[in-house]
Amino acid sequence: MNITKKAFGTTPDGQEVELYTLTNDNDMTIKITSYGAIVVSLFVPDQDGKVADVVLGYEKLDGYLQNDPYFGCIVGRYANRIAKGKFSLEGREYTLAQNNGENALHGGLVGFNKVVWECETVQTDDIVGVRLSYLSKNGEEGYPGNLNVNILYSINNNNELKIDCEATTDKATVINLTHHGYFNLKGHDTGDILNHEVTINADRYTPTDETAIPTGELADVDGTPMDFRSATTIGARIEDDFEQLKLGNGYDHNWVINRSKDDLALAAKAVDKTSGRVLEVFTTKPGVQFYTGNFIEGQKGKDGAVYKKRGGFCFEPQFFPDSPNQPQFPSAVLHPGEVYQHKMAYKFSVSK
Ligand code: GAL
Repeated sequence: MNITKKAFGTTPDGQEVELYTLTNDNDMTIKITSYGAIVVSLFVPDQDGKVADVVLGYEKLDGYLQNDPYFGCIVGRYANRIAKGKFSLEGREYTLAQNNGENALHGGLVGFNKVVWECETVQTDDIVGVRLSYLSKNGEEGYPGNLNVNILYSINNNNELKIDCEATTDKATVINLTHHGYFNLKGHDTGDILNHEVTINADRYTPTDETAIPTGELADVDGTPMDFRSATTIGARIEDDFEQLKLGNGYDHNWVINRSKDDLALAAKAVDKTSGRVLEVFTTKPGVQFYTGNFIEGQKGKDGAVYKKRGGFCFEPQFFPDSPNQPQFPSAVLHPGEVYQHKMAYKFSVSK
């Protein structure tokens, strides 16, 4: 296993950005930049050992300065939506930017995807990795508390990408970190993902209103196009006349993962039959947002690719959306003295 580092450009305000390349002994290569803690490329083999880059992304730093789809990044301080950009905590109301209609989305105007992280390489007998750290100051994007965030991205020889997140605060705050990779297991530049077979380990999901805020209900997937308990292609029901699919413009919902404790549980799986590539996603958090790239619209990506609607899908493990305003959901509050932890694993293999 091996790690190399090179320059990846300079931000408009003069900060130097790095690109780390991590390689294991089984043909897996991942490129991670210090800008936004973004996975720029992820190469894995198919059933014949042929390697392809299976994540959407930009060729250069420039693309990531805008990055409306949030390709490949760590999203924070609060991934997903907070209704009307407001929440109350310990008797105080906090106001965030309304950057998605009237709601707050993915950490605000300058979320964790748009800052430069401190990086340190890590290598042991079993893994190669990069540890990224960022101090989000009290009041940044309206959130309370100085929040110290650490993300360890690592790969091992089982072709697993592990993402271990930790954070501490000096004042009560809310936190919801996730990874926002867009996958196309055929290859990032091969068109839409509608033929991927998806399984989601969930009996229930959180239906939303027309602004993508959960109604608060945990609805049964049974008998609906939201039922992915057995493998179904993404395209099979995506255009069905089902209100939640109309509201989401496709799949863009949070599923309630079936689990008994807070350990690493399987959230979702995708299989691309043409290449044989398989992705399984594990998390210690209660939910997973399954998003089918409904808002991708002609972004110019790596290798001259132009990404179209549904050119990639995301499995984003996390707390449920809008948890700070929905007391019946698992709490996303972090207090001083506690350590926020979120472990995710993206495991690649091939089906025979
Ligand atoms: C997803 C979210 C979508 C959309 C996308 C970014 O995480 O569920 O609604 O905002 O990010 O384009």
